[in-house]
Order: sequence, then C-alpha cells, then structure tokens
Amino acid sequence: MSEILQPLLEVNHLKKYFPIKSGLLSRTVGNVKAVDDISFSIKPGETFGLVGESGSGKSTVGRTILRLTDKTDGEVKFKGIDLYDLSPQELRRLRPKMQLIFQDPYSSLNPRVRIGDAIGEALLDHGLVPQAEVRDRVLEVLAACGLSSYHIDRFPHEFSGGQRQRVGIARALVLNPDLIIADEPVSALDVSIQAQIINLFRKMQETRGLTYLFISHDLSVVEHLCSQIGVMYLGSMMERASRDELFRDPLHPYTKALLSAVPVPIPKLKRERIVLSGELPNPADPPSGCKFHTRCPYAVARCREEVPLFRNVGSDRSVACHLV
Ligand SMILES: Nc1ncnc2c1ncn2[C@@H]1O[C@H](COP(=O)(O)OP(=O)(O)O)[C@@H](O)[C@H]1O
Ligand code: SF4
Ligand SMILES: [Mg+2]
Repeated sequence: MSEILQPLLEVNHLKKYFPIKSGLLSRTVGNVKAVDDISFSIKPGETFGLVGESGSGKSTVGRTILRLTDKTDGEVKFKGIDLYDLSPQELRRLRPKMQLIFQDPYSSLNPRVRIGDAIGEALLDHGLVPQAEVRDRVLEVLAACGLSSYHIDRFPHEFSGGQRQRVGIARALVLNPDLIIADEPVSALDVSIQAQIINLFRKMQETRGLTYLFISHDLSVVEHLCSQIGVMYLGSMMERASRDELFRDPLHPYTKALLSAVPVPIPKLKRERIVLSGELPNPADPPSGCKFHTRCPYAVARCREEVPLFRNVGSDRSVACHLV
C-alpha cells in the first residue's frame, strides 16, 4: 500500500555550506560543503537510513531538514509543505510533529530537573494538554518506552545509558510526532543495549505509525531497522536503494567498502573485501570529479575530471558512479 502514499518528507537538492572565515575582517575565504545537493524522500511509516563515515554530512542533513540550521539551497517538504516557507509561528506549531533524537540525551537534560518534568515540559510549552493531564501523559509514555512509573520522580544521573536513551525517546514521543530524526541514537550504547533500543524504535513504529530518518555511521545498525538506505560521502549521496538490494548487491564502490566491514550473517552471500585507505578528504576542498576517487580502488582517469551523475539504475534505486 505504501506505493501509492505521498512522501511524508521530501528533500530536494538540499545544500548546506558553512562559510570559512579568515583574517581581521573575518572575510569568507571558502565553504565547508557539508551537504552538497542531496535528494531523497520518505513515505509515511517508512524508515530511511542515512549512513556514511563520520564527517560525511549526515547530522547536517538532519539539522537542516528540521531548520535547526538554515539551508544554503534546496527544498524540504513535510506533508507537501515547504518548511522554509513557514513563518517562525507556523514552524513552531509544526515542531511537535518533527522530533530529533540524538546520541547523547543526557547532554540535553538538566541534571536538577526530574525526568517527569523534563518529559512534560515540551507538552506544556506547546500547550498540547492541560496541566492536569500532563502527569498521565508522561506516565503513559514512560511505560511505552519500557520505563517504570517511579522513574517519573528520578533525576537524570540515576539512569543508565540505555535508560537515558529511553528517556530521550519518551521526550520525543510524548509530543505525538509523525517524523522522528534519530541521529546516531544507539552509537554510545553497548551492543546488547543497542538491540533493545532498536527494538523499541521498531515497536513504536508499529504501534504509532511513525516515520523515521535514522542516521548512523554503522551499516549493521541501519540494517535491522531501515527499509530504504542512502549512503553519503563528503556531502553527496553516492547510492540509494532498498535495504535488501543494497545488502544483496551493493553497486557503488563506497557502499561496497562500507559493507565489507559488516559481518555477513549468511556465508553464501559472498562479498568482495574492500578496505578503505586514508581519511575522509577535507570537505572544504573536496577532490575534483568523483569525490571518492582518491580512495576508490576502481578509479579511472575520467573519475578525476568528471562528476558522476546521481542517476536511476532501477525502479527505485540510484547511484553516482561512472562504472555502474
Ligand atoms: N556548525 C558548523 N560549522 C562549520 N562546519 C560544520 C558545522 N557543522 C558541521 N560542520 C562540518 O560539516 C561536515 C559534516 O559534518 P556532520 O554533518 O556533523 O557529519 P556527520 O554527521 O556525517 O559526522 C564536517 O566537515 C563538519 O566539520
Ligand atoms: S566514479 Fe570512479 S572513482 Fe567514483 S566511485 Fe565510480 S569508479 Fe570510483
Ligand atoms: Mg553526525
């Protein structure tokens, strides 16, 4: 049925450049092209995984979508509405519907505020429920996130890492959002706790019909949750495909390299081993042609000169590589 649904989120040619200032007059001498012409869309109830090494621009995509930082160019549509056309008041009204969950919820929790108040304050800020109902809503969301009613009166330092992430999820869920952007939400957790939190994300999706943009540098985390995956490198999308296609038959050399680092559960699935050498190049001065050419084992002369188009190679699959 999802085939006929309109996207909940559409990102078209999004760019975010951070100016590099220098000298006494603080003149702009260049740009960090953190996000450099990215397009994708997410249907309601779908989970889109955004992967890539640290520094590839994933968090900037998330923050620019939510207007936590201004775009340089492009379009972000939520339910068909361009978020950058909204006035501050209109954006504020829509905010509860789009929530961000990040790696370290602890840093956003005031150590002196009880968890129940921390979860309830956004409900009050947005005037979503009368004061008298806040406690019930908080208890309900705590239970949904696998926390106990007594946690409502506890302080942040009394929670373990996994429980803090449950609090982070509860804070987002209490606002009854449609879209959650989860930026490395399990990266700071032990592997055993990661699985529990991923299961919680999945359960919340099933019971509340949530749509996720799930950001992670770790493909094995994304594999468990996402139906569509986008692979970013130095601000550009290199490949976008369904999870099944991407894991079965990665096309872009960068995707192959990322995947070859993920343990294969089914030994039949033979994978080429590609070890990425070198660091991510400087995004203020990205390589010419294909940005990946300095690390690509298949690079040919053309790759240094010509930027590969991000083009369709299947019904719902795109890749940017001259050799595909
Ligand atoms: N506020 C900022 N000012 C300047 N540069 C930034 C800022 N935020 C991110 N960057 C740069 O943008 C690039 C992408 O960063 P980021 O989106 O955090 O990547 P990722 O989440 O994939 O690790 C990096 O080179 C980073 O240094
Ligand atoms: S375009 Fe060339 S350098 Fe870029 S990924 Fe393809 S083969 Fe490698
Ligand atoms: Mg990040």
